[in-house]
Amino acid sequence: MDDDAFVRVEHVWKVFGKDPKRILAAEHRESSKDEILEKTGAVLAMRDISFSVRKGELFVLMGLSGSGKSTLIRTFLRLIEPSAGTISVDGADVTAMDREQLQDYRRHRVSMVFQHYGLFPHYTVLDNAAYGLKTGGVPEAERREKALEALETVGLAGWEDYYPHSLSGGMQQRVGLARALATEPDLLLMDEPFSGLDPLIRRQMQDELVDLQDTLHKTIIFVTHDLHEALKLGDRIAIMRNGEIIQIGTPEEVVTAPADSYVQEFVQDASPAKVLTAEHIAEDPEVLLYAWEGPRTARRILADARREWAFMVNKRHEYLGVVSIDDIDREKPLSVDDLRALARKQIGTCSPDDFLEDLFPIAAESRYPIPVIDGRGRLTGVVRYRAIFDSLSTTSSTEQEDKHVSVS
Ligand SMILES: Nc1ncnc2c1ncn2[C@@H]1O[C@H](COP(=O)(O)OP(=O)(O)O)[C@@H](O)[C@H]1O
Ligand SMILES: [Mg+2]
Repeated sequence: MDDDAFVRVEHVWKVFGKDPKRILAAEHRESSKDEILEKTGAVLAMRDISFSVRKGELFVLMGLSGSGKSTLIRTFLRLIEPSAGTISVDGADVTAMDREQLQDYRRHRVSMVFQHYGLFPHYTVLDNAAYGLKTGGVPEAERREKALEALETVGLAGWEDYYPHSLSGGMQQRVGLARALATEPDLLLMDEPFSGLDPLIRRQMQDELVDLQDTLHKTIIFVTHDLHEALKLGDRIAIMRNGEIIQIGTPEEVVTAPADSYVQEFVQDASPAKVLTAEHIAEDPEVLLYAWEGPRTARRILADARREWAFMVNKRHEYLGVVSIDDIDREKPLSVDDLRALARKQIGTCSPDDFLEDLFPIAAESRYPIPVIDGRGRLTGVVRYRAIFDSLSTTSSTEQEDKHVSVS
């Protein structure tokens, strides 16, 4: 297993019903959820779940209703006791904790945000946000300070004296998030936190969570039944079905290589244009000019390669622009500086994490491939127009095949 795992889940099972141990005995281990229900009346909610989450990772559990997501996320708090297996957080075995350890862990190390906010109607926004700190025994002044800070983080500064009923759903969920953040947990659990919100507000909350995570770098386990939400938020996604994890992967992996037809069905209508990034389809430039080699070398490289033009970089591999043979022949640059001055920089570029859908307009406007420039100005690759279309059509042809199969 992953050595720098912060959260480790190993062979976790959950049976709802009488005598889980008997169900977990060999005779039923291989039976399906339906068979177990039929033969024993017990519900197998989790079957042999194992995965790990790295520190600072946003890990998504995705699956249809009833697939076991809530059961799984609740075992992290031991609101539900697993029937077998272990869960550890930052090296501490949560499944082995006694009452006192568990209480300490729940107060200081982990927080949960629920779908239905779970706010106290007769508490102000501030007192709601400070609730976890209060039960954790934090003195009042410090409580106030930390709760105000958390409210500011979620964009609710100025709302501290209001009561939940005067807030919109989106704002109430921000209070829920502030309450979870106020205790500065190492692990944040979120069970369909945005599912109750209108689509527009929901997308806005997703965007804000992405922004927040850029600065907070929390370890987050996020549950959703919505693939688009999973793809947008997850560093990695675990797909659950009938109490099992059937695939774990990055959004790209899940979309481009679905583990089976169940995942395939899920991802069928996920547009790769909204998932794949420039980095994913970038290639090395065939010819590259190095400014310090000077104009004569640049001309020779282009001529030898039978190329009209090429991108140019400096010694730090920073992108300088595009230079053509025609430019060189017309302007007759004599020095390295002349050559650099010749490089045209006005062509459209992109960054490694731009989505394909954002590349279309750039590609349409430019007769060159799109240079991919990282945060330090370096050329990391080029995106060809063809590559954009190829990556889109690969996925749609598998869709075709699948439709064909389902007809026959
Ligand atoms: N307390 C319970 N008693 C019996 N069965 C339960 C209980 N809680 C959940 N289940 C069953 O366990 C399965 C997983 O449920 P749940 O974890 O809530 O799924 P999800 O959150 O993915 O919708 C379902 O079949 C559900 O009916
Ligand atoms: Mg659920």
